[in-house]
Amino acid sequence: MDELRFNKVFAGFLFAALLLMAGIKIAEVLVPHQDLAENAYVIEVAETAEVASAAPIDTGPEPILALLADADLAAGEKLSKKCSACHVFDAGGANKVGPALWNVMGRQMGASEGYAYSTALAEFGGKWDYQSMNAFLAKPKAYISGTKMNFAGLKKPQDRANLIAWMRDKADSPVALPSADDIAAEGAN
Ligand code: HEC
Repeated sequence: MDELRFNKVFAGFLFAALLLMAGIKIAEVLVPHQDLAENAYVIEVAETAEVASAAPIDTGPEPILALLADADLAAGEKLSKKCSACHVFDAGGANKVGPALWNVMGRQMGASEGYAYSTALAEFGGKWDYQSMNAFLAKPKAYISGTKMNFAGLKKPQDRANLIAWMRDKADSPVALPSADDIAAEGAN
């Protein structure tokens, strides 16, 4: 390659490089690069707290107050057979594996005379009202952690309503059924 030809080729490269640089400069002017104050496309990234609350949380058992008035007592009595290995529901019934349950609705928890309750239940505190009984029978060990009642629970709200309505009748003077206000308040929870 003679010198002249080399210079031409070299000048060609140089020119091309200049063009390229000029092109980049022009492009920068035409399309100014700016840092946007906000992302143009906002990608929702949930914060840790939100992720935690999005995970399934145990919201407790479904409400049953509205089901009690029309509960099926015969179905409730049938369901009580699941309990009768350990409990007597009749008036004057003795404590067995589990405490006697005549009058249990409305009673203080852990109050059957002469029965040795677990510390967990004895110290739980509160009364057996419709809500606490609903929660306990849905999953005894979830509601009172450490209870010695070995029963998995009744999954279906209708089953719990039928049984609890039947248990309500197993008493000297059955506690009142929930009022319309009670039912509305439960639904609002
Ligand atoms: C395998 C035996 C067993 C079965 C089945 C069982 N329970 Fe129990 N239950 C117990 C024991 C034991 C306790 C005492 C728990 C404690 O002290 O922690 C108890 C406690 C209770 C209490 C608390 C009573 C109080 O005086 O505070 C209620 C209410 C109850 N059971 C209802 C039921 C119902 C309703 C069923 C049937 C759906 C049932 N249980 C099935 C053994 C059983």
